[in-house]
Amino acid sequence: MINKINTLGGYFHEYQKSISNPEQFWAQQAEEFFWRNHWTQVTDWDFSTPKIQWFVDAKLNITENIFERNLYTHGDQPAIYWEPNDPQRPERVLTYRQLLAQVNQFANALKDEGIRKGDTVTIYMPMIPELAIAVLACARIGAIHSVVFAGFSANALQDRIKNSGSRIVLTADGGFRGHKTIPLKSIVDEALQGLDQVTTVVIFEHTQQPIDCHPERDISWHDFITGKSKDCTAEVMDSEDPLFIIYTSGSTGQPKGIVHSSGGYMVYSAYTFKNIFQYCNGDVYFCTADIGWITGHSYLIYGPLLNAAKVVMFEGVPNWPDPGRMWEIIEKYQVNQFYTAPTAIRSLLASGTEFLEDKDLSSLKVIGTVGEPINEDAWHWVHDHVGQNRCPIVDTWWQTETGGMMIAPLAGITPTKPSFATLPVPGIQPAVVDAEGNELSGNSVTGNLCIRYPWPGMARSIWGDHQRYKKTYFTPFAGYYFSGDGVRRDEDGYYRILGRVDDVINVSGHRLGTAEIENAINEHPLVNESAIVGYPHPIKGQGIYAFVVCPQTSTGGEEGVKQSIQRGVSKRIGAIAKPDLIQIVPGLPKTRSGKIMRRILRKIAEGDATDLGDTSTLLDEQVVQQIIDEALVPVKR
Ligand code: WTA
Repeated sequence: MINKINTLGGYFHEYQKSISNPEQFWAQQAEEFFWRNHWTQVTDWDFSTPKIQWFVDAKLNITENIFERNLYTHGDQPAIYWEPNDPQRPERVLTYRQLLAQVNQFANALKDEGIRKGDTVTIYMPMIPELAIAVLACARIGAIHSVVFAGFSANALQDRIKNSGSRIVLTADGGFRGHKTIPLKSIVDEALQGLDQVTTVVIFEHTQQPIDCHPERDISWHDFITGKSKDCTAEVMDSEDPLFIIYTSGSTGQPKGIVHSSGGYMVYSAYTFKNIFQYCNGDVYFCTADIGWITGHSYLIYGPLLNAAKVVMFEGVPNWPDPGRMWEIIEKYQVNQFYTAPTAIRSLLASGTEFLEDKDLSSLKVIGTVGEPINEDAWHWVHDHVGQNRCPIVDTWWQTETGGMMIAPLAGITPTKPSFATLPVPGIQPAVVDAEGNELSGNSVTGNLCIRYPWPGMARSIWGDHQRYKKTYFTPFAGYYFSGDGVRRDEDGYYRILGRVDDVINVSGHRLGTAEIENAINEHPLVNESAIVGYPHPIKGQGIYAFVVCPQTSTGGEEGVKQSIQRGVSKRIGAIAKPDLIQIVPGLPKTRSGKIMRRILRKIAEGDATDLGDTSTLLDEQVVQQIIDEALVPVKR
């Protein structure tokens, strides 16, 4: 059984232990797992190379820790309750034993296809049990899964397939999202145009929509697994062998493939799941994240399944057929822990409490949030109406790169404060660092959020570009991992996340690089250049504000250009990256050396031009005035 802290005193005690002797602390957590070979050293690391290793030389397979380790006690217990998009369609339930059989069968099919340990497999699927099966089948045979969120466009998918080097793509004919059907297979077809590297596409029949067939490459899921055995010995993995790649946005250039390890990631995702949610044997846990994001990896698949949890997986969206859908699911499965994004809460809050009133939410014990700051209104609403003043809210701060939760209350144990992620998880040593790289000691300090000491779940590299890993996370502040977030440590030592300090924006809890969106806009033939900034948005947290230089607007006029820019961004990245506001501007505020002064644009988009800071290096003041005059939000000046 994975260790669980039960009291606040216990937390402080464990935290102290984890700081004074991290190796002993993590070795103790790791002892709870099944290792084929023990480690020779708990950790070996340096942040300057950088090289991070945990449980050095140990051997394991994460799926043996999910299945074989728990089969005797939990084999016939549900692992996944799958709730379909359409509430009229039947749910599906898979026990641990049934899930293992399907994982093994798919794993054997992958092996017969020639997929081996270390090969990458791209997965572009809707939120159906087969997605979890595909992920776990890869882990079973040591193939590195690269799940691409099924809301990304053909172009974005192509970039990710190319970068990961996969020669196989797992997909479905389509996916349902509310009243929409997403043509996944045809998006894959488009992504693979001119890309010879992919020789096999496996298609699960889900929506039954018509698809084009490429017989030399395509095979149905059914045919792929027919005749394959349901027994498959787990591949023995080194603790440091990559388990998966997941792409995320940074402040510059192309998305990066974050690489996670087998052993350290296992220990970290499982430990944090159990402790932060205070998961008890038999509880039903519901995570609304899509498996295409890190939250879905760590807290829909690995963390909960390693704890033999009962997990609710939902295909649809929170507001379809009506804004009561989440509450209906909680009632139907008697959910105990509910993990979601502040954006979802804000959008449901907007429909009032009407959809909550007739639901029985008495099973709920814990509500968790992730991905973006939760504002006080949303916090109180979810606390009072959903949690009925009874459930602790665990506001969890972490990142794709951290693999698991880093700063978060332990549910019901750590006293919470609205909009604070509270205190670090045992083993995590946060540091508040000023612009010069000095660590600020004591309380009531504000600065850049860094981490001083490695933890088992941290990313090990960027796929194919270790130098970028070094440059992004370990170079800005020597001797620290740099998160890219600003933070305040208040008078009680509680942490409040202030948002990104780099050019990354957080839209509905989705992380997007402004450079990526700008590149997509700049591909438009009429656009000379553009700049993207975030602005406060009541539902999405941040909205996307685009300033676009476009001297001629052709026949469609300004509106026509704006619409075609939107289409261009949807096509290049996906609908999640479409700007909410597009302002056509005569020029961008630039320094004499040609650098865009985003700070000024950010201020304007926030509606406050009273203090634009130092503008002495500005090339053309006139441009700024004109942008303010024509701004699409009211601007104070
Ligand atoms: C932001 C999601 C405030 C933060 C797991 C971080 C948060 C980025 C919180 C990572 C929180 C995440 N409060 N901000 N509780 N959790 N963030 O990689 O800016 O998609 O750097 O990982 O989301 O987003 P990512």
